[in-house]
Amino acid sequence: MQLIESLHDLPPHRASAKHPTALVPTMGALHSGHAALLREARNIVGPEGSVLTSIFVNPLQFDRSPDLQAYPRTWKTDLATAEAEGVDLLFAPKAGEFYATDHSITVAESLLTKHLCGATRPGHFDGVCTVVLKLINLLQPDHAVFGKKDYQQLAVIRRMVRDLGVPIEIHGLDTVREDDGLALSSRNLRLTPEQRADAPRIRRALLAAKDISPTGEQGPEVYLNAARTHIEQSTAGATIDYLQLVDRHTLQPVAKVTDPTLLATAVFYGDVRLIDNIEIGSKP
Ligand code: PAJ
Repeated sequence: MQLIESLHDLPPHRASAKHPTALVPTMGALHSGHAALLREARNIVGPEGSVLTSIFVNPLQFDRSPDLQAYPRTWKTDLATAEAEGVDLLFAPKAGEFYATDHSITVAESLLTKHLCGATRPGHFDGVCTVVLKLINLLQPDHAVFGKKDYQQLAVIRRMVRDLGVPIEIHGLDTVREDDGLALSSRNLRLTPEQRADAPRIRRALLAAKDISPTGEQGPEVYLNAARTHIEQSTAGATIDYLQLVDRHTLQPVAKVTDPTLLATAVFYGDVRLIDNIEIGSKP
């Protein structure tokens, strides 16, 4: 595996990379969810192509600076994971070099980010789009792979690629979960044992809503109430940041549940914010 830590070392890589190439952008603290994305990248490019990954805790996408400070950094195990997953190139730029001190251009999205995480984390998705577009420009991959756990992020990146004509194919991968249903996340490491034991209720809440048979006439409240009840019964102080039903493609709130619709939530345990989502109303 080749490790590149400076933007200046990228041109030789671009000249010699074996195509097709697939990029998995990450912020490190790699877990089995990231590993699944790396394996999907390998499936896409085949044994002769190249799997690229990046580790960069992107300051532009953190709206709360304590969250940026607290973001877990596990460099040594990340290196071992990337190596074990057969990554060809790991790009890990230094925070001070990636953005010029006077950088002044960002990518702004104005429709898909109105609700869900976009509403409660101002500027977050502009930061995500900016870093992802820059990584794509620097590494010039043919494909990039993202997780559906961050459903809104995936939708926004697909939209950026469409609207700005970025020459790349975007792939989405299903959420990887713990045995008890909790979506894998680097943030799970920051939960207390009590919070960690309680957190699978997020998944159970979403499943309870999915269990309601759609008639095509129900408004969102039937589903939202079913999910909300589960989270409000938390014994470890879970509080809902948002819980919303939106159209899968436009991510705008729906008045009636016609299939399929996205139910998405963000839940705080103390200052740790966990997200998850489920498609409801879809035929089994
Ligand atoms: P990060 O949170 O490190 O996630 C990197 C990728 O892993 C994202 O595509 C995310 O959706 C995916 N992922 C995380 N948990 C997953 C799970 N349990 N199952 C499947 N995939 C999962 O998302 C980011 O970093 C950043 O916003 C980034 C895109 C790198 C831009 O900075």
